[in-house]
Amino acid sequence: MSQSDIHKKNAASRAVEFIRDGMTVGLGSGSTAHLAVQMIAQKVDDGLNIQAVSSSKETTQLAEERGIKISDYQIIDHLDVNIDGADEVDNHYNLIKGGGGALLREKINARFAHTNVIVVDPTKMVQQLGHFPLPVEVNPFGHQQLKRFIEQQYGINAFIRSRGDEYFITDNGNYIIDCNFTIIDNPQQLENELLGIPGLIETGLFINLTHILVIGQEADATVIDLRSKVKPS
Ligand code: 5RP
Repeated sequence: MSQSDIHKKNAASRAVEFIRDGMTVGLGSGSTAHLAVQMIAQKVDDGLNIQAVSSSKETTQLAEERGIKISDYQIIDHLDVNIDGADEVDNHYNLIKGGGGALLREKINARFAHTNVIVVDPTKMVQQLGHFPLPVEVNPFGHQQLKRFIEQQYGINAFIRSRGDEYFITDNGNYIIDCNFTIIDNPQQLENELLGIPGLIETGLFINLTHILVIGQEADATVIDLRSKVKPS
């Protein structure tokens, strides 16, 4: 197992400790969150009783293969704990997410979870967000206009995400534009501006949404509890 895999595993292992019997749990996407899904599956196999919702079709498939029943999002009335990964975490614990293209559903889960637990390896920690291209989910209608607008507005390069010869299509039937900001000086201002563009559905900026950050290390993980600092919005 690579060092990075060990870090991810240790982060996932500490994160699943937040789950208790009877809880409703959000399952994130990406390799680190998927390690948590596998550990939760083991606990379910051992008798843990939870209701689970998923952030992507890929996660649903993994969870169901491992014996976790996924509930319809519309029937749950609250979300106790959400466990998800991140592509970057800045020194204010804001995130870039969406490397796997699941940012819209991930953000819904993050926003409504009572406790949002983010699991990362140490390579995800940065001073400022932006080196990882910021994914934004856009309606396919007008996507070229949107890409050009973002490029001109911010003087950056942006790319419509593709898989082989085709555009990548999200679970919601939309496209992703990856925006190479390099440095994001004011994430909240950028978030407000981007969300004001018609056709832009959601951004991968997760601001003030991290309650617990778990950074996997070689032998264990560092758990940072931000619950007293996160402002209710
Ligand atoms: C998917 C995500 C993932 O959580 C993010 O890309 C991190 O993935 P990994 O744990 O594989 O590095 O936001 O949309």
